[in-house]
Amino acid sequence: MKPELNLHGRTLTLQRYPARTKETLQAWDAADEYLINHVQDMTLDPGRPILIMNDSFGALSCWFANQGKVTCVTDSFIARQGCIANLKANQLPDVQIIDCQAELPDNPQLVLLKLPKITRLLTWQLQQLCQKLPAGCTVIAAAKAKDIHTSTLKLFEKNLGSTKTSLAVKKARLIFCEVNPALAQPLPAPLSWEVPEHGLTLTNHANVFSGDSLDIGARLLLEHIPQHRKYQHIIDLGCGNGVIGIKAAQQNPQARVICVDESYMAVASCLANAALNLPEPAQLEAIVNNCLTGFKPGSADLVLCNPPFHQQNAITDHIAWQMFCDAKQVLTSHGELIVIGNRHLGYDGKLKRLFGNVSVMAQNNKFVIYQARK
Ligand SMILES: C[S@@+](CC[C@H](N)C(=O)[O-])C[C@H]1O[C@@H](n2cnc3c(N)ncnc32)[C@H](O)[C@@H]1O
Repeated sequence: MKPELNLHGRTLTLQRYPARTKETLQAWDAADEYLINHVQDMTLDPGRPILIMNDSFGALSCWFANQGKVTCVTDSFIARQGCIANLKANQLPDVQIIDCQAELPDNPQLVLLKLPKITRLLTWQLQQLCQKLPAGCTVIAAAKAKDIHTSTLKLFEKNLGSTKTSLAVKKARLIFCEVNPALAQPLPAPLSWEVPEHGLTLTNHANVFSGDSLDIGARLLLEHIPQHRKYQHIIDLGCGNGVIGIKAAQQNPQARVICVDESYMAVASCLANAALNLPEPAQLEAIVNNCLTGFKPGSADLVLCNPPFHQQNAITDHIAWQMFCDAKQVLTSHGELIVIGNRHLGYDGKLKRLFGNVSVMAQNNKFVIYQARK
């Protein structure tokens, strides 16, 4: 994979994050190129902010970093780290990087928005923009043409203003939206629902995995979380709204629980859920991180993990593999890793290779819970 973006006589070297030696996936896509090509013909005011939302690994932020005051808005720690690394590798000036819940800068001249995978986040961001943007501010969204549906355009019309689309180029399309401040409304509250059989109430910010209802894999794992006085330090790796870590904390009140996710909204939801569901919320800590980077080796006796099987829009199992490798490092000797996965993902092979052992704790027709011991 050639990591060079060549456009308009300029070359950027762009890597995904974390950089891998035999990377097969590119750090930008045709929708990024389409946005860059379109904006090339516009005159930019160097004094007014350019908002870049949901940039995958910083390709757009890098491109515009020396053309105006760039603010990169992302819910992803991985995207943030990718953006910082790519700016540095290309010797570009720093840009402001904020998470989705932070206050947007005043008076932006241009908004470039990559469509997020989760529609709730798109709705949230459009409403956030509608509250903030001056009339006449240009908003251009971009995505693969197959991800832009009539319902997507209706969301723009309903929440931000009058909308039209471009022709498809290299299977990508642009969406142009004219801001209508009269459509502004209060931002939607996080979605809350109950899991009555486990006595849990879960609140979910807009970009949380399975934020509308309990994930079916998580439902099975909830029934098999071990309970024992020996557990002193438990990690929920890829915690989402924290459902697994919170249940583990309830069942093991002597243990300190750390929940980790790369999504800022997931971590915010997890902390809110600890406050809602635990008698001692301080028993649980939640942090934004890339897997278990920086964790002390040999420090945890149980890692619980419902791994992701995609990174942004790419289906990949390399994050699951990184999670398993990191868990092995961080576990004490005899420590346990418990993983839930869709049957066809074949996590047992990976765990056997890494730990030298794997057993099936439970299964149903779709999911399997594996246990590996260090
Ligand atoms: C399948 S979801 C599981 C969520 C929750 N534990 C559950 O069972 O409902 C996987 C989670 O891993 C998180 N994730 C993805 N890549 C990550 C990374 N590199 N480091 C930490 N978390 C990551 C995602 O944001 C997502 O919340």
